[in-house]
Amino acid sequence: MKKITIAIDGFSSCGKSTMAKSLARAIEYIYIDSGAMYRAVTLFCLQNNLFDGEKLNIDSLEKIIGDIRINFRLNHESGLPDTYLNDTNVEKEIRSMEVSSKVSIVSAVNFVRKAMVSIQKELGKAKGIVMDGRDIGTVVFPNAELKIFVTAQPKIRAQRRLDELRSKGDNVTSFEQVLKNLEERDHLDQTRKESPLKKADDAIILDNSFITIDQQMQWLLDRFNEVIHSS
Ligand code: DC
Repeated sequence: MKKITIAIDGFSSCGKSTMAKSLARAIEYIYIDSGAMYRAVTLFCLQNNLFDGEKLNIDSLEKIIGDIRINFRLNHESGLPDTYLNDTNVEKEIRSMEVSSKVSIVSAVNFVRKAMVSIQKELGKAKGIVMDGRDIGTVVFPNAELKIFVTAQPKIRAQRRLDELRSKGDNVTSFEQVLKNLEERDHLDQTRKESPLKKADDAIILDNSFITIDQQMQWLLDRFNEVIHSS
């Protein structure tokens, strides 16, 4: 069967990664989380003391960006790729709060984006890949055969995020705080100069506000089959 490229972009807390992972597993494609790469660069910056509070030392980063090697290796237990930074598995560290709070600063730097996009393009050369992010359908794989742009109502996304925080034992963060943070990130993602979050003209919108995970999976498989069986 022919292999295609699938780009999944969209807002934060829409369940993009979960959806991309499940789809990749179902159709036996490689899954790449492009956000993990920006997180790995952020971890590298923290390890090399390139942050002074919220301020990133961009000149120093530019000098050592060539020393950063990011790749993915299959974790046989989870069946998913783990992120490696200079040959060290950093899958856990890149999900820390410290990295999460700084990653939007790093991902707005244009030479960082250039370096990551070039790795992402290389990873997608052989097709048979599902990649999720913010600029996959617009910048990384503008020729992807299937592009999905995921969205959901902010209040619904905030409630999902809050449920996740509660399940991890956070009983202090309020719904209002989560919603405010989410709306701020939406704004930042959409208005930043470098590769802002934008629906590709040929992307199909998936609003998952009122559908179940199973319905969403069926919808994705239907779109995939349409593309596979066309032409
Ligand atoms: O999807 P995530 O939350 O793990 O992404 C982490 C950060 O990286 C987030 O601030 C958005 C940014 N990002 C990006 O700018 N471009 C991508 N292709 C993927 C993520």
